[in-house]
Order: sequence, then structure tokens, then C-alpha cells
Amino acid sequence: MQNTIKVNNKEYTILYQIGQGATGKVFKAQYQNELYAIKKQEYFGEGELEFYDQLIQQKFKRCKNLIQIYDFEQIGRFSYIVMELGDSCLYNELIQNKIDQKNIRFIIKQIGSGIKELHEMGLAHRDLKPENILIKTLFSNDKNESQQVFKICDFGVVKNISNLKTKAVGTPYYLAPELLTNNNDNYSTKCDIWSFGILIYEILTRQLMFQGKTFQEISNAILSATDDDISDKINKLKIEVDYKELLKNMLKVDSQKRYNIDRVLEALKPKSRSTSRQRQNNFVMNPPPQISIRSQFKNRDNQLSQSPFKQIQNFNIIQQQYTIQKPQQYPNKSQQNNQSNVKQLEF
Ligand SMILES: Nc1ncnc2c1ncn2[C@@H]1O[C@H](COP(=O)(O)OP(=O)(O)O)[C@@H](O)[C@H]1O
Ligand SMILES: [Mg+2]
Repeated sequence: MQNTIKVNNKEYTILYQIGQGATGKVFKAQYQNELYAIKKQEYFGEGELEFYDQLIQQKFKRCKNLIQIYDFEQIGRFSYIVMELGDSCLYNELIQNKIDQKNIRFIIKQIGSGIKELHEMGLAHRDLKPENILIKTLFSNDKNESQQVFKICDFGVVKNISNLKTKAVGTPYYLAPELLTNNNDNYSTKCDIWSFGILIYEILTRQLMFQGKTFQEISNAILSATDDDISDKINKLKIEVDYKELLKNMLKVDSQKRYNIDRVLEALKPKSRSTSRQRQNNFVMNPPPQISIRSQFKNRDNQLSQSPFKQIQNFNIIQQQYTIQKPQQYPNKSQQNNQSNVKQLEF
């Protein structure tokens, strides 16, 4: 018997689970000859419905670096979101050490373009992290050439900036300081610039900028850092000078002093003084530290395995958003075969 789900009268065959986050499970699904990802979750985030509505009204059809949303429906206590299927995610590329140094600028620019697409709609993503950046591999017609496209997904806590008041959401490592304080001032899309800065730092160095064993420790590390501390940390890195400048301007404690996404993208344009060849050499001369990313990330998973809810109860937040999840591994071929028995799925 096949496992199927009807979303707005289209019957999708559920193939197997491809992901699980704090808010829902994601399945690979088929409708006619096309493959999709379907996310099943128990509730919609505050800004989520409005966002999907706008997407489906085709207002944002041309967003190249956002995962496309095709359909959604609330059925009983569950919501189903039908989306474009990603092939992998940035988190997996990072832990498997698969990122080629010469592609880094291209990857960062694509993520930046996705953020620009959101910010231009007046929306803040608020949960930017490697797990929420998907990768699609596009092939040329003759299949001889391929290109990776990076797309932002997980719009569960996306919010219209006109009512950006809810405080901390997202994964603590990437949280901007203004989301961790208890005052109730509005904040802006600049929280995404901070998270993007932490993400770029991670891509370049394979390290998380702010570390700690608990939510509170990470949060304290973020809140106690001054612009000077952050600059000192960045200055010590063996990365290109223009990345250093960019990171310092993205990781300003005062969000008003932070670059906006246009300035970030501007700064990522190649400078005439340094050719791509020189840049490549620079990387060869200064490779990122050879730390074991796998063990580092293991720590990162374990760090917060003790009930994060307890540690954060003093914050003015939506607690569900804080489940510190074990990041997803995409199923490899053998796992996929095991999963072909769809009856095992709790769909
Ligand atoms: N469209 C998609 N294609 C492929 N994998 C996806 C897709 N959407 C989500 N995933 C996978 O499922 C995981 C959880 O989905 P996500 O939307 O981030 O849920 P959560 O809000 O619970 O974090 C993602 O980190 C990713 O690994
Ligand atoms: Mg997610």
C-alpha cells in the first residue's frame, strides 16, 4: 500500500523522510513525474502563512535563491507545505568538508542574494544557519555540466519587519545580540546580517564564532562581545583582508551600524586590485585551520542536548523555536533503499 497525502486535491506519493527539524518532518514526495519536498508540521509560525500566501500568489516567483513554495494546506491539526526539493544542505557540505575553497565566494554571494530577496519583500528570515541553506544541483541539457544553486529554506519564523517585535528565535550560535536582550525595542532585518556574518565566519574558518556548552553560555559570549573583541578575533584569522572588513561590518553589536544586504553584496564583488587567481593563491597559502570539523560539530550537537528550555525560560521568546535539534544527515543510497518501505513512515 502506498503512503499518500492530498494537498489541495493533488495526491502526492510519500517516498521517504528527508529531514526533521524543530517544527516538523520533511518528506520526499512525488506527484505525476515530478519530485517535491513536503513539510508536515503541527502549526504555522506567526508570519509563515502570510508569507506562503504571497509566494503562491506568485508575487515572488523569481526568487532564485529561496526554496520555492508551491502549495500549502491545513489538514486537521497538521499543516502541509509543498516545496521545491533540495538535494543536500550546506550543513552537510560543511561537516563532510566538501566545500571547495575556490567556490566559497560564489556560495556566500548566493546566500546573500537569497537574503536580499527576502529583505526586499520586507521580511526577515530570523533563523539563518547552515541547516537552512539547501543546495540544488542543476544540469545542462546534455548533462555534461552541472552547477550548484544555494537556496534558503525554512520560513517558519520569517517575519514582516513592520511587526518585528517577538524576541529571540532561532539557533543560539547565530543569534544577533539584539534578539537576546530583554528590552522590547523593534528590531530589523539586520538580525539576518549578523547571522549571515556568523555563517560566513563558519564557512571560512570551519569554526563557530561564539561557543559555549549551554544556551546561556553561548548567549553570554554573544552579549559580552564588544566591537573591539570581535575585530580582534577577526584580525587574527588567516583569511583575505576584504573578508575581514566585511565581517567586521556585518558583526557590529549596534545593528544600525551593521551593513545592510546591499552593502554586503557590494563588498563581495571582486576587486580589480586582486584577481581571482591571486585570491585563489591566497587561499592556498592560508588554508583554514585543519580542525576536525566532525568532532567540533559533534560537540555542537551535544552542547545543548540538556534541556534548552530550562536555560532560556527567562527570555521573552517562543520556546518551541528553541529545540536544539540534531542536524539532519541526508540519507545516503543505502539508507534510501531501507526507507523504501514507506509503511514504516509515520506520515
Ligand atoms: N525543500 C526541501 N528539500 C530538501 N530538504 C529539505 C527541504 N526543506 C527542508 N529540508 C530538510 O529538512 C530539515 C528540516 O526542515 P526545516 O524546514 O528547516 O524545518 P524546521 O523548521 O523544523 O527546522 C532541513 O534542515 C533540511 O535538511
Ligand atoms: Mg530548519
